[in-house]
Formats: sequence, structure tokens, C-alpha cells
Amino acid sequence: MEKLEAPNPDYIREVPQEYKDGLARIEAKEAAAAAKLKAEKLAEKAKVEEKIAAAVAAAVANAGGADKAVSSTKTANKASNINVDWSKAQSTDIGVFYPGTASIEWILGRKHGGKRAFTKGDRCIECHGEEIADIGNNIVSGESEKDLEPNVIPGKRGSFDVTIDATHDAENIYLRFSWADGEHAAVPFVEGGKMDPENPMKLAFMLATDDVEYADRAGCWGTCHADANTMPFAPEQDTLKGSDLAKRLNFDTGTGTGVTKYLKETRTKLELKGRRGKALGGWDKLKDQADINALQQANQFMDVVRYKSGTDKVEDGQILASRDMHGGQGAEVEASLKNGTWSVVVKRRLKSDKAGDVSIEAGKVYNFGFAIHDDYSSARYHHVSFGYKLALDNADAEINAVKQ
Ligand code: HEC
Repeated sequence: MEKLEAPNPDYIREVPQEYKDGLARIEAKEAAAAAKLKAEKLAEKAKVEEKIAAAVAAAVANAGGADKAVSSTKTANKASNINVDWSKAQSTDIGVFYPGTASIEWILGRKHGGKRAFTKGDRCIECHGEEIADIGNNIVSGESEKDLEPNVIPGKRGSFDVTIDATHDAENIYLRFSWADGEHAAVPFVEGGKMDPENPMKLAFMLATDDVEYADRAGCWGTCHADANTMPFAPEQDTLKGSDLAKRLNFDTGTGTGVTKYLKETRTKLELKGRRGKALGGWDKLKDQADINALQQANQFMDVVRYKSGTDKVEDGQILASRDMHGGQGAEVEASLKNGTWSVVVKRRLKSDKAGDVSIEAGKVYNFGFAIHDDYSSARYHHVSFGYKLALDNADAEINAVKQ
């Protein structure tokens, strides 16, 4: 089958210049239309904010003069330790979608139409950038022909748009994620309907250099496996307990949830075909520690920062053989839910000499992906992004952190 499907070099034809020109014209037109829509949305938002500000000023004036207004703004500013001028930030809108059980094994497997082009180097967004909402709706509703969601949660949203504002100064990068909160959709297979009742929202983002396989095309998708906790091929918890593997993979010291995220590079084999009932993935095919240490040295890890809204906890760490929240990056997060809009502001140091941290330097481009656990969800029941590029003062990067 593989041979029959393979492209035949005899049929290679140059793409005519006319076609390339036409495509460039259409792309420019679409970009202009998107920019116009965004400008209109921003203008609308500014109008609403102006109205609110005027109403607040009027109310404060009625309550006893302008002095009060000044002092209340001062306290509002004081409450934040993250003081940046957001008007200098660059803003991008990115859709996140509900992935169901889609894993890197599924992406690289026979049921995924994009498998071949992806392995040859195409980015997820080259094919899917314009259909993020459709993909999320297909999967969340259980309507996907690919059977990517066996446990449907009625009323859960398939996707939503997140605005990311990015800026930096000499020491830190600042990212502000904002999005509209959704309706609560009770989870039928969990008592009380909330998987993580403590945390209404959790947000995580990952960063990696091109040294990590697939990171250049897929952001954090390479860390998500078919045998991770709550995924279809997760091993029985009992087979894990007390084993040497469990110890090496942080099962006991981690979140106590079994197989976490890991990189393909740390395994001797990743099962993709699943013939004769073989489990997909490779959690138990762990390489020797010396090999894993070498990967660490060669930048083959993904840096992760994670925030939990209920407990107001910030953690940072890396994904290599497993998720290891070693800390030390000193990231700070300020989150709020106001008038139905979540806002999560992250301040993270650009440079770090700690193993497992990606240092962000001018002139380089990094791979970025993020996930939001909306509506008290946990594990795989989140919304995720495709992979995007992040850089400092680089208009070609989708997330362009502009200098303060
Ligand atoms: C070369 C184009 C291409 C690339 C690159 C690509 N895909 Fe796909 N993808 C497809 C096609 C084609 C389908 C199948 C659509 C169908 O059969 O209805 C698909 C289907 C999917 C689906 C299932 C959608 C549904 O409605 O059930 C998901 C999820 C998905 N892709 C995720 C990804 C991710 C994640 C990446 C990057 C890691 C990626 N794709 C890269 C072409 C691509």
C-alpha cells in the first residue's frame, strides 16, 4: 500500500508562475479582509470600554469628586506586579479547539489525511488554519468520522478564539491571553459534573527550539501520546505501581496520574500501526538514562509553564521522558475573570541557565503551543492550539513580542 500510494517522480510538473501569482493575490486579499475585521472588532471594543469608563467616572463624581477616582486607579495599578504598557504589545488571535483523543500517533497514523505531507514538513496550520472551529465542533459533538471522542460532553464548546498580546523588555517576555468564558457544560461521567472542581480554568504553554522533532510544524503535539493518562491506550494504573519504570517516569512524585506527556526521542520505539491489537504509543520503551541526558544537553526538550486559576498556582518545568515540573524559571501569572472575559498575564524571564528552560534570544524563532482547561476540565478534555512561531521583534512570527 505504501509503495502504491507513493508519489511517482515521472509526474513531477513545475507549478506555473501564473498560478503562484494568482495564489499570492488571493492571500493578500484574504489578509487584508482579516485585518479589516480585526480593526472593526477592536474599534467596537474600544467604544464599549470608553462607555464603561465614562459611566464609572460619572458614578465616582456623584459619589464625591474626582480625587477618589484618582486614588482608586492608583490602587488598581498597585495590585499588579506586572507593569507593562500593553499598547506597545503586538496582538494575535489564535483559535483553540477540542482535540478529543487525537494524539501524535493518530496524526502519524493511517486515519489522518495529512499524515504524509506532515511527515514531509508541512505545518498543521497550513492545512487546518482556516477550519479550527469546524474541527473542534466535529470532534466535540462526536460527529467526527474519525471517532475521536468516545465520551461526549453535551453542550461543551468545540473551539474559541484567544487573543495573545506579546511584548518584552530587557529581562522578561510578557504574554496576555484573553478569551470569552463559556457556558458550563456538566460532564455526565463525573460526579458533580466538574472534573477539577478546584480549578475553573488552567492554562499552559510550551516552547521549544527546532531541535525537538515535529516542534517546528506541530508545536506541542509531539508530546501528546495515545497511551497518556485518559487516552485510549493508557496502561492500567496497577501495572505501573512500584516498577522501576514508574520511578523513572515520575509516576509517584508527579501528579499521581500515570503516564504524562513525553517526547518520542526518549523512547526506543513508538507504535503507530497498532496491528494485532498492539497498544499505540511507547510509554514503556524508555531509553537509558545516559541517552536521555544527552537529549537534554542537545536542547531536545519542551519548556512548559502552567497556571491553575482556583489555587492560583504557577508551575514551570519541562517535557522530556515525562512531565517534570522542576521549577526555577520564576514565572509570574496574574489572572482574572471580568465581565465574562478571562485574562491571563504571564511574565517569564527571557534567559535561564537551568536545564529544561528555553532561553529566548533576539533574532531566533521558537515553537509555541498552548492549551486551556476550560470549565473545570482536566487531562485530555482541554482546548489546544496548533503550533505557532514566537520571536522577539520579528513581524514574520505569528506571536511577535515587541519591545517596550
Ligand atoms: C497536508 C495537510 C495536513 C496537515 C499538514 C495536517 N493535517 Fe490534519 N487532516 C488533514 C486531512 C486531509 C484530514 C482529513 C479530513 C477528512 O478526512 O475529513 C485531517 C484531519 C485531521 C483531524 C480530524 C478532524 C475531524 O474532523 O475529525 C485532526 C484533529 C487533525 N487533522 C489534526 C492535525 C494536526 C494536529 C496536525 C499537525 C500536527 C495536522 N492535522 C496536520 C490534512 C492535514
